[in-house]
Amino acid sequence: MNPDFWHQRWREGRIGFHQDRPTPLLLKHWPALGVAPGSRVFVPLAGKSLDMAWFAAQGLRVLGVELSRLAVEQFFAERGLQPETRESRYGTHYRAGAIELIHGDAFGLDEAALAECAAVFDRAALIALPPPLRQRYAHELYRRLPPRCQGLLITLEYPQHEKDGPPFSVPEGEVRARYAGDWDVETLERRDILAQQPGFRDEGVTALETVVYRLRRRAAP
Ligand SMILES: C[S@@+](CC[C@H](N)C(=O)[O-])C[C@H]1O[C@@H](n2cnc3c(N)ncnc32)[C@H](O)[C@@H]1O
Repeated sequence: MNPDFWHQRWREGRIGFHQDRPTPLLLKHWPALGVAPGSRVFVPLAGKSLDMAWFAAQGLRVLGVELSRLAVEQFFAERGLQPETRESRYGTHYRAGAIELIHGDAFGLDEAALAECAAVFDRAALIALPPPLRQRYAHELYRRLPPRCQGLLITLEYPQHEKDGPPFSVPEGEVRARYAGDWDVETLERRDILAQQPGFRDEGVTALETVVYRLRRRAAP
């Protein structure tokens, strides 16, 4: 997906991926990670996700990155927040309270930008990307996260030939292959969600599962 694809989606308000509440599977599985209060959570391809507000309400700090300025500005406006802004080599940083959202390209973030992130949360980020970008996402971006970083990854699985992405189907074998070099990957839950996703059924999709993984970055050798 090139940036124009996403800019157009935001301009036209075609953001069916956006949820009007925090991700239920985040609420269910995050507490088991035991992420210390005050830790910084990285939210790649953040959109205007309410998950960021939920993290802040848990006493965590958030570093999000999002390509669309509209998404970033809507996130703060919809919470009645007036963020401070500053420029850096990564883009424009918007900050209000515990939430910092960079309007920029996730692939432009380096180790210095991510150094303080003790955790990462991926909902609709890996699965938003076609295979070549998924390779860069896991092998370049995640490799810049610090040792012992941990997080949750939520994916979808369906017969890819039945529908074009995004969202793409990312099978468990691919997740394990992409992350296994640096991360311990544990499957926490696999759930059949076809009945709750009439849009997929209308497009002819015959099977749909969501899978939640716990990721733990191994310490450097
Ligand atoms: C499917 S949406 C998911 C948004 C959010 N995670 C959620 O759960 O609502 C993917 C988002 O990634 C953004 N995006 C795509 N490529 C990006 C990139 N290279 N850097 C930062 N954001 C990107 C898009 O603008 C879009 O808002």
